[in-house]
Amino acid sequence: MSNPIIQKIDSALSDAGAKLLNAVTEAEIEEVRIEILGRNGLFPALSKEMGAVQPEDRKAVGQAFNTGRTRFQELLDGAKQRLAAGSGAKSCDELDLTLPGRLRKLGHKHPVTKVIDDSVAIFRRMGFIVADGPEIETVYHNFDALNTPADHPSRDPGDTFYFKDGRLLRTQTSPVQIRVMESQEPPVRIVAPGRCFRRDTPDATHSMNFHQIEGLYIDRDVSLADLKSILQAYARELFGPNVSIRLRPHFFPFTEPSVEYDFSCIMCGGKGCNVCKQSGWLEIAGAGMVDPNVLKAVGYDPEIWSGFAFGMGIERIAMIRYRINDIRLLYENDTRFLEQF
Ligand code: PHE
Repeated sequence: MSNPIIQKIDSALSDAGAKLLNAVTEAEIEEVRIEILGRNGLFPALSKEMGAVQPEDRKAVGQAFNTGRTRFQELLDGAKQRLAAGSGAKSCDELDLTLPGRLRKLGHKHPVTKVIDDSVAIFRRMGFIVADGPEIETVYHNFDALNTPADHPSRDPGDTFYFKDGRLLRTQTSPVQIRVMESQEPPVRIVAPGRCFRRDTPDATHSMNFHQIEGLYIDRDVSLADLKSILQAYARELFGPNVSIRLRPHFFPFTEPSVEYDFSCIMCGGKGCNVCKQSGWLEIAGAGMVDPNVLKAVGYDPEIWSGFAFGMGIERIAMIRYRINDIRLLYENDTRFLEQF
């Protein structure tokens, strides 16, 4: 039967060895060190007991004490080395500096953004500058100043999102016309891309939020022919030199006369296909000569100034351009779809 001090050293060493083997943090290793070598640890306590050891045992116990302490230090060092190696801290020799870097994946512009960017670039080349307005609008800017009668169906809460304070989510980018004319003297030549909201039931061609680009051109002696030539130039820049446009009579409260305009079908060149429903034409947007009542509302003299405005749906153009058959794809943020652009 060996001395109880030797037994204590043996069992403490095998406990500590097991703990150190499983240690995964420096703190755990330190905890074991304190248990064994710390001021209140095992070895300082044992050294106090040494005086009471029988003289015939003293040599053996002293030896066990010393080798135990050395052995424990080795276990500690081993555990520390194991941690350092596992932490991935490599020496310079192990780093291969000739390996190629990791390529960062580039994002993609959203098709709606691409159409906006390209359209704005085309209009800028024709002397338009970009204007902006709020998405939360007043009834005055979205309807009243745009000559929209109080009983016009588009004002219905079933069609337009209203806030409790009476403001609304703009249903069109046309209120930007009003804000621009309120803030500057004529002449005016702006385009205003932006988000619009309508209380539509979503389906393949309708979304509750969508984008428009508004155009406004005010000067002396502006005519419908100017409108047509600007839209024709835009169509050809965007879709190529063979596209033609046509204007059809329509009605908007804020333009007189009003038109809807079509581009000749870019798929079939006007012969008739599925995309244009055999008509040879693609409906693009609304436009017209700015109504004198709108000019009066912003303090422009309709006897001196005239102009045209247009507003087109970006999603519709994006869908034609990129052959997208469901508007909802543009809003689902599925990267498998978006990565194609
Ligand atoms: N704001 C109209 C719409 O959303 C489009 C339009 C803009 C028509 C400018 C005429 C002039 O349908």
